[in-house]
Amino acid sequence: MESLLLIWYGRSSRDLPWRRTKDPYAILVSEVMLQQTQVDRVVPRYLAWLERWPTCEALAAASPAEVIREWQGLGYNRRALALHRAAQAIAADGWPDDLTELPGVGPYTAAAIRSFALGEDVLPRDVNVERVLRRTGHRFGSAAAQALMDLGATICLARVPRCARCPLADRCPSRGTRDEPARKQGRFEGSFRQRRAAALRAVASAPRSLADIDPEAVAALARDGLVVVDGGLVRLPA
Ligand code: ADE
Repeated sequence: MESLLLIWYGRSSRDLPWRRTKDPYAILVSEVMLQQTQVDRVVPRYLAWLERWPTCEALAAASPAEVIREWQGLGYNRRALALHRAAQAIAADGWPDDLTELPGVGPYTAAAIRSFALGEDVLPRDVNVERVLRRTGHRFGSAAAQALMDLGATICLARVPRCARCPLADRCPSRGTRDEPARKQGRFEGSFRQRRAAALRAVASAPRSLADIDPEAVAALARDGLVVVDGGLVRLPA
């Protein structure tokens, strides 16, 4: 099965910029961005980020305010601060043996760095990879990681799998079966997440008077360290 998958990948792989590097910092940046944001939206932001901060040391030397501004629009802004703190930890002490000690790095992101940057034989399992493993019942090695991600993202879709185009269909016990509708991410429109995003966007362009912005959103942002409130003004952390 794995060789069929790799032959397909050789012909159909997506040309994604983080596939052209083995720099663990670049892989860290890409995977943290990809945690909750779609590939197409990540590509230009990843390239801009690495141009601005090409190394952990460069990112570590930036201020939180700069990092939050550069992250604007990617969503889930806490990731930006975690990535910044991770870069500071690495710049100070080097890469830890256990990558999950880094802020914002869970088992999936740690496995992705170990596989894509360090060439270790571990398979990073995101939801797409998990779905292909479950449906095929096959155990793939880490050489198949990127191919599994592409298959899961473009062919082996949860609701409408495109089995007619799948290189594994002949041997797949789940051919033609769909997954139950998953719980969808709640609407952004009208959500508290949107209120937080609007408040942060306002504060990112200039400090604002506390009286002028959504107090609940500010309280939540301040708890996460994304803004500071001082003397009636709300601003980004310096
Ligand atoms: N999603 C998460 N990591 C990815 C990667 N390395 N390539 C494509 N999609 C991904």
